[in-house]
Amino acid sequence: MEKLKIGVIGMGRVGLVTATAFASLGFEVWGSDKDKNRIEKLKRGKTPFFEPGLQELLNKGIEKNALHFCANNKELIAEADVLFLCVGTPSREDGSADLSQVEEVAREIALQAKGKKLIVEKSTVPVKTAQWIMRTINLYSRGKADIEVASNPEFLREGKAIEDFLKPDRIVIGAENETAKEKLLQLYEKFNCPKIVTDIKTAEIIKHASNAFLATKISFINLVADLCEATGADVNIVSDAMGLDRRIGRAFLDAGLGYGGSCLPKDVKAFTLIGENFGINFNLLKEVDRINDSRIDRFLEHIHQALWTAKSKVLGILGLSFKPETDDIRETAALRIIPKLLEEGAYLKLYDPVASKAFMEQFPEDPSSFTYVKSPYESARDAHALLILTDWKDFRELDFKKIKKLMITPIIIDGRNIVDPEEVISVGFEYYPMGRRPWHPGRF
Ligand code: UDX
Repeated sequence: MEKLKIGVIGMGRVGLVTATAFASLGFEVWGSDKDKNRIEKLKRGKTPFFEPGLQELLNKGIEKNALHFCANNKELIAEADVLFLCVGTPSREDGSADLSQVEEVAREIALQAKGKKLIVEKSTVPVKTAQWIMRTINLYSRGKADIEVASNPEFLREGKAIEDFLKPDRIVIGAENETAKEKLLQLYEKFNCPKIVTDIKTAEIIKHASNAFLATKISFINLVADLCEATGADVNIVSDAMGLDRRIGRAFLDAGLGYGGSCLPKDVKAFTLIGENFGINFNLLKEVDRINDSRIDRFLEHIHQALWTAKSKVLGILGLSFKPETDDIRETAALRIIPKLLEEGAYLKLYDPVASKAFMEQFPEDPSSFTYVKSPYESARDAHALLILTDWKDFRELDFKKIKKLMITPIIIDGRNIVDPEEVISVGFEYYPMGRRPWHPGRF
């Protein structure tokens, strides 16, 4: 079979990684997005968001002339043999996935495609979406093209997306016939990881089930963290000990402010609704969601325990992104904590290594109540407490002696248990973690 040409529709965090990674593997790739600015920036070699390693892949792809960016799907649909759908599937009000972008692209492909095409669901979609795509194709293509549909869900973590694409734990292929299966196996022939080849519905469920389970692990350990706080136990040690059981595994057992981002919160809600639409009781995942939501109030309790009141206090805020190594602020804890602190009359000094620009778009600086600063030390200057909302590695390695000198009162409230308690206690801080005993000089 001659080398397949690849089209990737949607130059977001999944699509752009998919396009540049396939280009780095020697494929000719077309990438399209309806956001013309984004396409113009990509043509000039500018990545629209921060993702470690993406800029290098983009440069290489453009250098080799293996990457073609288009502001509409016409050329891509004409040129590509395999068309990956990487468009957004955002949550609707009721938590279900909004598939209107998928439907729109499917219609466009059906009307324009000629010859053999394989449409591949890459974005996370509810089970049976492929059936709707197929129905749309049959309705609009009027037999002009021989179009197949398959599922190839992504398991990319922001901040590690390139590594997760090029060195995946597994590849999942959902196909209903040999042609579709063979084409996808050809794209991934250089990958020596387990390849699960199954029917499309099973492949669609694997993705949602995986994310829902990861969220369940996080909420489980946060539930245990609440009990540890109530009893004076240490959740970090519980996580370490549990994680040594290879059936459990240590990953995703870090207690703290819980999960944010554009995937886990959305996928838990969507999967719950899918289950209920098929008449199955998904209360387990409703509890996962509830526990996650309750992290914010738990953290605010720690702030009041440490400060009595946040009113007229200066608070340094470290971390605005939903997790380290990304500038993505979707569903980040900061978006829920900061308004509550402002409501209480605190003055905030916000710092993040890369996400301040994104945060500023939603929270333009208002010097009368909060400001953005360029370093964690500026955030600590004249502060009554330092609040850690994202577990950036840098925050663990700060010069806490210097931080203490800058602060009015030496208090750290750590939403991600990222700081070494012994280190900060030894220089005289009060330290308030999640799911662990607070360290303060014997007050109360
Ligand atoms: C997730 C899935 O990991 C990935 O496989 C899927 O393709 C997309 O969704 P991502 O949303 O990028 O990836 O972030 P992830 O690394 O999963 O973290 C999600 C959230 O959980 C972050 O807010 C993180 O801070 C939080 N988290 C993670 C915890 O609170 N505790 C943990 O132990 C791990």
